[in-house]
Amino acid sequence: MGVPTTTTDNTLTSLKTSRKQTTSHRIALGDVTQNNMGQLKRLNSVLFPVHYTDRFYKDVLEVGEFAKLAYFNDACVGGVCCRKELIAGTPEKSKLYIMTLGVLAPYRNLGLGTALLKHILEHAHSINSSPTPQNHPKFTEVYLHVQTSNNEAISFYKKYDFEIVGTIQDYYKKITPPDAYILSKKLLVE
Ligand SMILES: CC(C)(COP(=O)(O)OP(=O)(O)OC[C@H]1O[C@@H](n2cnc3c(N)ncnc32)[C@H](O)[C@@H]1OP(=O)(O)O)[C@@H](O)C(=O)NCCC(=O)NCCS
Repeated sequence: MGVPTTTTDNTLTSLKTSRKQTTSHRIALGDVTQNNMGQLKRLNSVLFPVHYTDRFYKDVLEVGEFAKLAYFNDACVGGVCCRKELIAGTPEKSKLYIMTLGVLAPYRNLGLGTALLKHILEHAHSINSSPTPQNHPKFTEVYLHVQTSNNEAISFYKKYDFEIVGTIQDYYKKITPPDAYILSKKLLVE
């Protein structure tokens, strides 16, 4: 949902370029736990112009693989937090909502955002293809809100076949522009 934290710092730009050229870096994903929740809170406070409540972080601990931290050479530099949403009237179906997905600016364009997004899509797919229906209602869609000015995030999600399916005027209360696109990707239900 957030806006990009832009940087014009040349040091950071060259750092990013040289990292992309090298093959020695290590990208890893890790669980969100009570013990590292502080890292997720710090990341979100830098990445998004929205204050997330204690309730948000409590819920994050309940979603298992749908919340992850991303590490670049063991430094925690990104994260994703999703929410599972039931669809009224269709108990066998659900949606996955991406509440936050972000990577610190100096570590962008290195594949970390892709690693986080792929992880949650693969987990949703594994639930959808699971033969045990009691596991969880199948996910028909993954969606999120993005500020209409956030071209970086829009390009990122479009690359992974998300489509703009709607616009909500005045979705955000304290940031400009206040309007949000709804980006959505349909998922296969087997
Ligand atoms: C959106 C975001 C998560 C992408 O993370 P990232 O780690 O830079 O993503 P990746 O390195 O995996 O990029 C994958 C692809 O996205 C596209 N992309 C990423 N940044 C882009 C940019 N600034 N302009 C155009 N395309 C871009 C590219 O196609 C890229 O593929 P390529 O490396 O083959 O060129 C990151 O920009 C971010 O954290 N933004 C701020 C938080 C935010 O707005 N989150 C979205 C709302 S929840």
